[in-house]
Amino acid sequence: MPALDDPLVQTGSADHPAVFRFDIDERAGWVLAMKESPKNPQPMDRIRRLNPGTHVERARYARSEMRVSSACLFISTGGDSVRMINPMKGDTIGIGFIGAGRVAANQRAAIERCSGAELRGLFDADSVTAESRSRAWSVPAYASAEALLADPGIAAVFVLTPVEYHATSAIRALEAGKHVLVEKPVSLDGVEIDAMIAAAEASGRLCVPGHSYVYLPAFDQVRRVLDEGGMGTVCHMEMKEFYRMPEDFLPRYHGPVDEVLWHHIYSLLYLLGKPARLCAMTAGFREGLNPGEPEQVVVLAQLPSGATATLTLSWAANDETSDPWTYKLKVIGTDGGATFSRRDIVLGSGIGGPPWYCPMYQESFDREVVHFVRDCIGSGTPPPSTMADARETLNILHAVKRSIADGAVVAVE
Ligand SMILES: NC(=O)c1ccc[n+]([C@@H]2O[C@H](COP(=O)([O-])OP(=O)(O)OC[C@H]3O[C@@H](n4cnc5c(N)ncnc54)[C@H](O)[C@@H]3O)[C@@H](O)[C@H]2O)c1
Repeated sequence: MPALDDPLVQTGSADHPAVFRFDIDERAGWVLAMKESPKNPQPMDRIRRLNPGTHVERARYARSEMRVSSACLFISTGGDSVRMINPMKGDTIGIGFIGAGRVAANQRAAIERCSGAELRGLFDADSVTAESRSRAWSVPAYASAEALLADPGIAAVFVLTPVEYHATSAIRALEAGKHVLVEKPVSLDGVEIDAMIAAAEASGRLCVPGHSYVYLPAFDQVRRVLDEGGMGTVCHMEMKEFYRMPEDFLPRYHGPVDEVLWHHIYSLLYLLGKPARLCAMTAGFREGLNPGEPEQVVVLAQLPSGATATLTLSWAANDETSDPWTYKLKVIGTDGGATFSRRDIVLGSGIGGPPWYCPMYQESFDREVVHFVRDCIGSGTPPPSTMADARETLNILHAVKRSIADGAVVAVE
């Protein structure tokens, strides 16, 4: 039996520590895990078959498998020894990008700021983009997604392509044993989201949606106050996002209903929960730029409690008033309320346009990456907004589209 460098791994909280012992059953080819607790030693699952000749093997303990404060570990076989790789213990998670366009720059900046994470390579279907990003970021550009996925130094993949390629890339990456962060909108097809969830379960890897807005501290604070009932009875939530999307950016996106309303919907789910019914209206002011796609959408939703919410999103105009709706959140209850604006801090050029000049825009990516690497991969903590939330987000988006098409109030099923 190969020797284990570090067969004991301590996880869990200070109050409820858990220790796991790992052994390799060479004949059966399984890594075996044993939870060691003074009171209740428990054998755990066989967690991963070791492929002969595979340079790096990874195994993950999922919360559901362990039914304890879960640990997420990589087990790397090299020669005849086994090493645990855990970002919580100072190891580095290698990351690869599939898609290297605009949002990749935000994600790359976030990785640069996250100790324990390193961008190790990228693939972009456009070779000019791939080469320029590769040069600028000093990482290899792979000739194909398969070549990137075959790199054992890459443990996690960020899927940063347009939405129509998210599912294919995410599922391939999961099947190749990588953890995945998939940009929003995760998919506009529920079957694809279910397939991503199933692929994650089958591979024992994480698939985390890029629901970046919920990572800002304000969301956490508001959610905590709401959980504690600090605002009394919640009456209303408003989320507003108003900016003029430059003409040259329009061709690469589907439009605000498909690209950005997704953020508003998972935010509503995160803060107040699933609405019971809603109605939506759209408007368009720039003729012909995105045929069939409105520039502006307003959703009025009602929660089962009777509380209401409005989600207002526009790519038509900048708001340069004294109280700008560039990005603003407000929740009002009978005993209190909360508000915050991403324009509380503004920096650099482009002020007034799309919100990229607000440092809190980049901060949401920074915090998302830290959470993905250290909390999800490192400690097995589930993300604040999950793939199940992505599935529910799509369900609500479908209700919005039904309301727009029918001009009616519709039930959210
Ligand atoms: N979280 C956020 O706030 C946020 C912000 C912007 C964009 N996004 C999302 O990120 C995704 C990408 O948006 P973007 O702004 O970077 O778009 P983009 O057009 O700038 O970049 C997409 C890149 O993917 C490449 N690509 C296309 N198909 C590919 C494939 N099959 N395999 C590999 N590469 C492929 C393109 O060549 C392009 O370079 C979209 O889903 C978008 O909605 C999220």
